[in-house]
Amino acid sequence: MLLEIEGGRPLKGEAELSRAKNAALPLLASSLLTEEEVTIRELPGIRDVDNMLCLLETLGATVTREGRCASVRAVALDLSGDSYPFVRAMRASVLALGPLLARLGEARLALPGGCPIGSRPIDLHIKGLKAMGACIRLEDGELKAVAPGGLTGANIYLDLPSVGATENLMMAACLAKGETRIENAAREPEIVNLAQLLTRMGASVHGAGESSLRVEGRPRLHGAQIEPIPDRIEAGTLLLMTAACRGDVLLRGAKEEHLSAVIQKAQECGAYVLPDAAGLRVRGGPLRQTDLRTQGYPGFPTDLQAPMMALLCRAQGSSILVESVFENRFQHAAELRRMGAQITVRGQAAVVRGVRRLYGTRVAAGDLRAGAALILAGLCADGRTVVEGMEHVDRGYEALDEKLRRLGAKLRRREATE
Ligand code: UD1
Repeated sequence: MLLEIEGGRPLKGEAELSRAKNAALPLLASSLLTEEEVTIRELPGIRDVDNMLCLLETLGATVTREGRCASVRAVALDLSGDSYPFVRAMRASVLALGPLLARLGEARLALPGGCPIGSRPIDLHIKGLKAMGACIRLEDGELKAVAPGGLTGANIYLDLPSVGATENLMMAACLAKGETRIENAAREPEIVNLAQLLTRMGASVHGAGESSLRVEGRPRLHGAQIEPIPDRIEAGTLLLMTAACRGDVLLRGAKEEHLSAVIQKAQECGAYVLPDAAGLRVRGGPLRQTDLRTQGYPGFPTDLQAPMMALLCRAQGSSILVESVFENRFQHAAELRRMGAQITVRGQAAVVRGVRRLYGTRVAAGDLRAGAALILAGLCADGRTVVEGMEHVDRGYEALDEKLRRLGAKLRRREATE
């Protein structure tokens, strides 16, 4: 799937944000913790959500979906299905491991392989579950986990504040015997959202959003309902797109408190960002350089590093970007260079020397956020840009091209064979 973009039009108007992919996926996974119905409303219409729902069905859950609302009933779970197609398509499938193990005392899940943004191991998930009494081994490309008699609460220190490991262990701890402490936990707003659902299900979770998390296990959890929080990465992407092409957009529903680092960096680059009762108003000004390092929340999110790099390609001066979360997340630099950008990558650092113009050409998105970066570059490039690999973008952005069209961008989606 391709996206053709005629560059050079500022974005103007109002954008309605979707709810967060990274909140929706763990919320859905937590439905495995109870046999009662868990309902997630306002789900974003993205491929990763479809995938997670299919994985839950493969594991024996019954899913009823009406538009943006999905109700999951995980009464009789079944570990005999083939999870590999889902795990391969989406690493967040590993979030099923903790809930399955906690609920059934055993779990089976395909092992995620390599991924385009680095090796992304899951050693911290496994180490934490082992500390809670699980035996986990790898057999025929599958993780086989058992905890006869159930999981037991433990003190767990995470070597890195991994978002996925924090979520997996927090979910598992809800049904473990006794208390679990997770130190150096990730502090992302999506983790607070997950803790809200778990609490509504009857769990006892303290400290979500802080580095030290405490969960008191319960014998069982019950059904509940929740909505994912607004997508701060989608908001940040549209904010940077507006800033890059000197537009003027109201991001309806964007939460200032979730975007502090991004707002500050966009302001350093010359954008005006004004919080408004309805969300955030963004106006682009002349672009200037900035330096930044990606970090876990509340630092600058790695998921916005690629769009930020695309913006800095046309900023006055040289910028240094340090990617400290993932090891191999600069592939978009080579594609941006094909559009005239001047970028040098050395290990985890990239130096972007601003140029006056980018030129439209054919480029390929290797992953979700790289796709957003190339669309941003296309929106402010001279002439026509064709972005290949829109299927990556569709995994995590709901109808991004539709939203941009409503803001005045000239875009056309077409099949690669057309
Ligand atoms: C989540 C987000 C993703 C975001 C990332 C970092 C979801 C569904 N995805 O991914 O969009 O880019 O957080 O904000 O929420 N690591 C290990 N061992 C582990 C786990 C992680 O070494 O067991 C490393 C990873 O390789 C990576 C870093 O820790 O370098 C951060 O990964 P993590 O926070 O776990 O990211 P995800 O939960 O996979």
